[in-house]
Amino acid sequence: MTSEKPPPGVDLTRPSIARVYDYYLGGKDNFAVDRRAAEMALKVTPDGPEVGRACRAFLRRAVRYLAAEAGIRQFLDLGSGLPTQGNVHEIAHGVDPAARVVYVDNDPMALAHGRALLADAQTTTVAEGDLRQPEKILEHPEVRRMIDFDQPVGLLLLAVLHHLSDDEDPGGIARRLTAALPSGSYLAISHFHNPGDAHPEVSRRALAVEKVFNETLGTGRWRTHQEISAYFGDLEMLPPGLVPLADWHPVGDESRQTDIYHTIVGGVAHKP
Ligand SMILES: C[S@@+](CC[C@H](N)C(=O)[O-])C[C@H]1O[C@@H](n2cnc3c(N)ncnc32)[C@H](O)[C@@H]1O
Repeated sequence: MTSEKPPPGVDLTRPSIARVYDYYLGGKDNFAVDRRAAEMALKVTPDGPEVGRACRAFLRRAVRYLAAEAGIRQFLDLGSGLPTQGNVHEIAHGVDPAARVVYVDNDPMALAHGRALLADAQTTTVAEGDLRQPEKILEHPEVRRMIDFDQPVGLLLLAVLHHLSDDEDPGGIARRLTAALPSGSYLAISHFHNPGDAHPEVSRRALAVEKVFNETLGTGRWRTHQEISAYFGDLEMLPPGLVPLADWHPVGDESRQTDIYHTIVGGVAHKP
C-alpha cells in the first residue's frame, strides 16, 4: 500500500512493530520500510510469520478460555496491534455479544485502522496509550467508560512486553496494572523466549534475531523463563503454567512442536 496515503502521524521513514507484525501475518497495512526490516529478520530466522500465527492462535485460545471458562466479560488489550482476523472482541462476542473490549496501542496506524473497524461498535473501543505510562492508560476516559473496575477484568499483554527494554521496567508496569484490577481478574502474557543452555542453538538464534530487531526496530527482548514468570507477580498461574505457546490449551494441531516451539511462551494467571 506504498502508493496509498498513510493515516496522519504514520512515519514512512522508520519501520513500526505493528506494521512488521502485520506483514508477517500476511496483512496489507505495511510499507516498504517495514517489509525491509521484516525481511532482514527473516534472513536470521525464517520463522517470523509462524511466530505471528502462534501469537494470534494463543490470543484466540486465551480470550476464549477467559470468556467461556472464567466468565470474563471485559477485556483490556494493551499493545493490541493492527486489526486482523480473530480480534479479541470477535472471540469474546462469540461467547457473549455484550462483552466489552478496549484496545490500546501507541501506533498511529493501529489506532486509525482500529477506529475504522470499530466505528459502530457499542461494546468495543480503541484508545491511544503507551504501556510505559500505565497510570495514564488506567485513567483514559475510554478505558473508564468501558471498563468497570469493580468487576473482574481480563488484562492482555500479548506480544508486547518484549517490546519494552529492561530499563523501561516491564515487570513494574505489569504490577502497576494488575494492582488496579479487582480480585477475580486475569492476566495473560505472551513473550519472546530465550531458552538459554537448555537449547543452545535456539538461544543463539534468539540473540541473533534480537540484534536485528534492535538495529531495525529499536526494540525486542528474548527473555528467560524466570524473567517472564516474574511479570505475573503474586498472581496464581493457571495450569499448565508459563509454557511454549503450542502447549497452552492446544486445539487441533496447534500443539505441534515446530522450530518456534522454544522461542515464544505464554501463560494466564488469576488474581485471587
Ligand atoms: C507484535 S504486536 C502484538 C499485537 C497483539 N497484541 C497480538 O498479540 O497479536 C505489538 C503491538 O504492541 C504495540 N506497542 C509496542 N510498544 C508499545 C507501547 N509502549 N505502548 C503501547 N503499545 C505498544 C505495537 O504498536 C504493536 O501494535
